[in-house]
Amino acid sequence: MKILVTGGAGFIGSHFCEFLLSQGQQVIAIDNLITGQLSNLDSFIKHPDFEFIQADVKDASILEKAFSTSNFVVHLAAPVGVKFIMNHPVHTILDAVHSTESVLNLAVKYNIPVLLASTSEVYGKNLDLLDPTGKRTLSEMDYRVEGYSRNHRWAYANVKSLNEFLAFAYMREQGLKLLITRFFNTAGARQRSEYGMVIPNFVQAALKGEPLKIYGDGKQRRSFIHIQDTISAMWLLMQSPNALGEVYNIGNPEEITILQLAEKIIHLTHSPSQLEFLSYESAYGEGFEEMDRRTACIDKLTAAVPFQLTGNLDSILAEVIAFEKTRLDL
Ligand SMILES: NC(=O)c1ccc[n+]([C@@H]2O[C@H](COP(=O)([O-])OP(=O)(O)OC[C@H]3O[C@@H](n4cnc5c(N)ncnc54)[C@H](O)[C@@H]3O)[C@@H](O)[C@H]2O)c1
Repeated sequence: MKILVTGGAGFIGSHFCEFLLSQGQQVIAIDNLITGQLSNLDSFIKHPDFEFIQADVKDASILEKAFSTSNFVVHLAAPVGVKFIMNHPVHTILDAVHSTESVLNLAVKYNIPVLLASTSEVYGKNLDLLDPTGKRTLSEMDYRVEGYSRNHRWAYANVKSLNEFLAFAYMREQGLKLLITRFFNTAGARQRSEYGMVIPNFVQAALKGEPLKIYGDGKQRRSFIHIQDTISAMWLLMQSPNALGEVYNIGNPEEITILQLAEKIIHLTHSPSQLEFLSYESAYGEGFEEMDRRTACIDKLTAAVPFQLTGNLDSILAEVIAFEKTRLDL
């Protein structure tokens, strides 16, 4: 197969391209490098089956050339990261919608299946408000509970939901072959800290002996899936014709509080760092709110394909610490 990966120089995209090449597939990656990095491609950029195109996905003429020779499109390109989204409110909405429009139009024209990357953000505060007992996890058909429109934080959730609606509309009206994956927090080497991702932020701070900044009281719970597990779930779904037309959560249901995560990272890095508690408002402005929990039910995924989790938080942290030490030249 020849697989087109939009956002291929990003965190998930670069690992996915590398994985596809190891499986003997041909890969074209398109990326405008707005949050991605060329260095993510270092280990495989010269591979004979790999082509990198530095371009915006909204540039239909460039995209069309890539589509005309591809058999599957993995659409990962999007504005990403709470900090990036809060700092670029208009871009977040328009870029996400128009990039996806551009990809879906061509996917229909060339009759190529699309994997559309969505996010656990679409569930919003479902677990906090509809299930405050905290016993349940989020399933694909659950209600989406998102906040006030003046709070730009919810724009990302809404625009990713809109992308899902748009893709289903193309499927219904124009016969698009579609697969949607909702990623829960995915972590591993190469993820950038600048845009608000918690694990690389904490690891960098701990390695530098700086305070680990915890927003809120630290009791909010998160779950993290190892990048290689995310990739293996994507690949299994892409190979399963029955998965088309469906939405799948991809996550690891094991939870940890942000406070416990910070303490674990300080312990693993033998760091003298202290914890610093800050309000969400101080970081992201007035009215910002966060979910207390965001935990995946992956029953639908495991029923559809022979997926098994192989990574866990310990393996994620070991790899991120090793990667960040190299990045910081320690
Ligand atoms: N990493 C996670 O935990 C996570 C969780 C939920 C959803 N996702 C989704 O997965 C996808 C990939 O995320 P990631 O974590 O790898 O982030 P990332 O920022 O590392 O990757 C996104 C890539 O897309 C590129 N890009 C953005 N807009 C573009 C455009 N208009 N044209 C061309 N390239 C463009 C960026 O330069 C970047 O390389 C995104 O759609 C994101 O919403 C990720």
